[in-house]
Amino acid sequence: MTLERISDIVIEENKDVYSPDEDTFLLLDLIQIDEGEDILEIGCGTGMISIHCAYHGANVTAVDVNEKAVELTSKNAEINDIDLKDILFSDMFSEVQGMWDAIIFNPPYLPKVEGYPMDVRWDGGIDGDETIVKFLERSYSYLCPEGRVYFCCSDLAPLTRIYNTIDMGYEIIEQREKTFDFETIYAFSLIAMNHSSAPFI
Ligand SMILES: C[S@@+](CC[C@H](N)C(=O)[O-])C[C@H]1O[C@@H](n2cnc3c(N)ncnc32)[C@H](O)[C@@H]1O
Repeated sequence: MTLERISDIVIEENKDVYSPDEDTFLLLDLIQIDEGEDILEIGCGTGMISIHCAYHGANVTAVDVNEKAVELTSKNAEINDIDLKDILFSDMFSEVQGMWDAIIFNPPYLPKVEGYPMDVRWDGGIDGDETIVKFLERSYSYLCPEGRVYFCCSDLAPLTRIYNTIDMGYEIIEQREKTFDFETIYAFSLIAMNHSSAPFI
């Protein structure tokens, strides 16, 4: 099957892999990709976002720390007849090299709930902001000049450290939000600011 329109995208799911949800779609709507750009998606899950970017002409590398997500992204790319440049196991940037026009991560962003086992799909550390802060600090050195970052977070985790980290190295291009009974989720698009010295050491 050849993908003719992005709305025709077919995604196979798996109980061990995060299924596309409201955050996936909030982020997808925000992402602006130019043809030929080099895009890295961290935490690709089913591959939905990576496939969307490749459909729009980007050279996409998709990584996940869950081997089942890596396999599923590969399968979904094949089902939709979309070529991803690379699909790799990687703990954030552990297996990633090079510089990117944009880096995308819909990360685990919820605070840990006592008594529940840790799940890489949604646990963002004790308070919920740890993975995002680490991601923003590390992304900076993998971005081309004026490279962009796209990510999601939730008001169930504190936003202060996230905003402080953004302020150190990025400017917000756009921020969107969606509110539910129990939570507001946010999607951010950022641009890396030029610094005379590295803002994150
Ligand atoms: C909320 S899900 C998002 C999945 C998919 N991108 C989407 O939007 O539907 C978070 C994903 O990040 C992955 N992940 C969590 N921590 C990671 C890390 N340190 N490095 C790479 N992937 C990670 C999880 O395995 C999961 O697939």
